[in-house]
Amino acid sequence: MTRIFVSQEIVEEALAELDGSGIEVDVRRDHRPLPSEELRATAADYDGLVCLLTDRVDAGFLAACPRLKVVSNVAVGFDNIDVAAATRAGVVVTNTPRVLTEATADLAFALLLAAARRIPEGDAFLRAGRYTHWRVNQEQMGVDVFGATLGLFGLGQIGRAVARRARGFEMTVLYHDVVRLPPETEAALGVTYASFEELLARSDFVSVHAPLLDSTRHRFDAHAFARMRRSAMLINTARGPLVDEAALAAALRDGVIAGAGIDVYEGEPAVHPDLLTLQERVVLLPHLGSATRTTRLEMSRLALRCARDTLLGKRPEVVVNPEVFDRR
Ligand code: DGY
Repeated sequence: MTRIFVSQEIVEEALAELDGSGIEVDVRRDHRPLPSEELRATAADYDGLVCLLTDRVDAGFLAACPRLKVVSNVAVGFDNIDVAAATRAGVVVTNTPRVLTEATADLAFALLLAAARRIPEGDAFLRAGRYTHWRVNQEQMGVDVFGATLGLFGLGQIGRAVARRARGFEMTVLYHDVVRLPPETEAALGVTYASFEELLARSDFVSVHAPLLDSTRHRFDAHAFARMRRSAMLINTARGPLVDEAALAAALRDGVIAGAGIDVYEGEPAVHPDLLTLQERVVLLPHLGSATRTTRLEMSRLALRCARDTLLGKRPEVVVNPEVFDRR
């Protein structure tokens, strides 16, 4: 019997994707990750693993689970999986792009607005009973988003969706990516290419939309913050380790940059203690990027379909390492 193990709770309705497939599924209905040794020992009895970004799948894991044919991550990011090792082992890796693009772009923009307009501070002020009268020099004076310059670090699907939202705010949108787009695509998206240094120097808001790779780890460090405007704000809904969190906290504390909206952390779920002490113009969320009911359902469905199709001998609709199929 072909078997799939779902390592942590997913959206339950999504399991219908396996109906009639003849595949047996075991779901661990717990929202905490299994310790890696336990995950390994359990997954060894299965042909497919549906896992989350908090599950680490490395070469040792794959060696301990020789029966596995597919690892299906319920996330677009797959830095928790050693893809090269999976490819060597002939294991298909899949992820969940597209279905979470709009929800994540919405959240990036929400963070940008919340930091710029100091929304959590205003909310806390009012709830504390401190709103006694309207005044011109209001306590939570913010900065304009309309007409400002937005710098996108990474212009994949989510970066582009943020650029579309920025158009409604008549923002100037710069982008930096390893690949520069053809001029007609840039024109259609309303974006202008900038070097990394230029992006930092010119943007009022810098929003991070790149994957976590060796080349992007700590790309936002003390050196980068020193090149940003003192009035600038950093938004990160991608992956925590793209930002040196200690350097970010120091830059915010010392006024090197003005604010931040952060959804992902270097040592998630831990947050650098210095960052937690900063409240003015600093908004911190618990990795909510894709957290809408519809999106999490679609992510769960897509991950299950990819695992199912791979195990039924079909090419799944999304595949991170197509070389595995090319080799077959
Ligand atoms: C992802 O999918 O990579 C997000 O970080 C979680 O939605």
